[in-house]
Amino acid sequence: MESMSFILFGATGDLAKRKIFPALFNLYMDKKLPASFSVVGVGKESLSNEEFQAIVIDSLYEFSRHSTDDKLQKIAFVQQLSYIRLDLYKEGSYQALFTHVERVESEKNIQENRIFYLSVAPELFDVITTNIKKSRLGETTGWKRVIIEKPFGHDLQSARKLNNVVQQAFSEEEIFRIDHYLGKPMVQNLETLISANPILQSIWSKDMISNVQITANETVGVGSRAAYYEQTGAIRDMVQNHMLQLVMMTAVRMSERGQAETLRKEKIHLMKSIQIDTQMDVVRGQYSPLAVYEDSVIKGYREEIGVDPFSTTDTFIAARLSIQIPLWQGVPFFIRTGKRLNKKETKIVVEFKNSLSSSENTKDAEPNLLIIHINPDDGVSLKLNSKHPLTGELEPIKINFSASHREIPEAYEYLLADAIKGDPSYFTHWDEVELAWQLIEPIIKDFENNQVPLRLYQAGSTGPEAANQFVNKYGFQWW
Ligand code: BG6
Repeated sequence: MESMSFILFGATGDLAKRKIFPALFNLYMDKKLPASFSVVGVGKESLSNEEFQAIVIDSLYEFSRHSTDDKLQKIAFVQQLSYIRLDLYKEGSYQALFTHVERVESEKNIQENRIFYLSVAPELFDVITTNIKKSRLGETTGWKRVIIEKPFGHDLQSARKLNNVVQQAFSEEEIFRIDHYLGKPMVQNLETLISANPILQSIWSKDMISNVQITANETVGVGSRAAYYEQTGAIRDMVQNHMLQLVMMTAVRMSERGQAETLRKEKIHLMKSIQIDTQMDVVRGQYSPLAVYEDSVIKGYREEIGVDPFSTTDTFIAARLSIQIPLWQGVPFFIRTGKRLNKKETKIVVEFKNSLSSSENTKDAEPNLLIIHINPDDGVSLKLNSKHPLTGELEPIKINFSASHREIPEAYEYLLADAIKGDPSYFTHWDEVELAWQLIEPIIKDFENNQVPLRLYQAGSTGPEAANQFVNKYGFQWW
């Protein structure tokens, strides 16, 4: 592996502490980083290298998979880290950064391969990329890449504008847009599951599948992120990116594993074919308070600190998508996601057609389900019908594989390893981002014009009743 510098903007932020440094350290422990590398942390705080390294060591103890391993390894890792304090809005800062990066490269004999990771507020994405170009930080004799966190734009127009700026400094092949759902182990496993199992390949189409249900439910509320969430709601925060990516990863049919180019092309093809009837097929919800004990209450969204008491921001979305290609003709893809629901659960349920229900002997047969468990468990289960040994009646049984007992790398580990290798398969191409905004913009407009009723649901519940009625209308139920 070629030596490289990893330049992290937002090095003292929460994401860096919880995800990025632990992921880098895990890669280091698993020998997935180049033998020679440097991490340059960029932040607002005034810190010496030693103070910065001490903060990172603490985060490794708290959040790394290898948290109990030898302290010496952690020390060896953080010795590759240096820190520089900068005002990212000032052009001159980038000259200082350039000098710093070049100095470390020459001291450690590192080739000019540079990854810039923007773990900062989205309004800084264009400022930083513009200045990387102006300061010549991006003029390397080796390769350069930029990793950008979501949200990529606030709407279609702002996303296009941002993309134009970023593409002045980096080509599409050099831009790695993160959607951390694409790094989740079971999401990455989907492609293999389907392409490496002939039995699944043969039934992965409208001929055998009656509907697909994708759930990403959370128990947490908006927490301290009201300012951000008031501007986004679940539609921008979850649907525009994570939920659509899960739809595409389920619907994509690959005949061979691991072909980055083909995977991306197929996903783009699918995105172009997705349709949603906003007024018929979207349920918009918001959580309301729940009285727990006599005087203790779980707040409703409108009571959260920083939220407008009359806010109509959506904290729950359910929708029916159709994919207008022959393979999926007539198969509804239902999605639902929300905050403050009864449990944290991310899963994909594939329901198969039930042709047996009309026969006398098997009329009680439940539909076969293939469930991909993404969170909190990682696994796959298959629901079949079997004969009860005592009563002789049909009973549903579950064949279960759980990967959760293994030590599974986190999404960020997979994604960082790919970015370091230069493999864009599990990052979002610009075409996907643009198409996703195009798809959800009419929904956002309808929300703004109150064309889709806002359904209140109690905190801790399963979501608005309207979300159940809406799948029932198509003859299905949520699993
Ligand atoms: C983030 C959203 O992208 O994903 C959050 O901004 C959400 O609002 C989170 O809570 C969910 O991620 P996960 O991995 O916990 O399902």
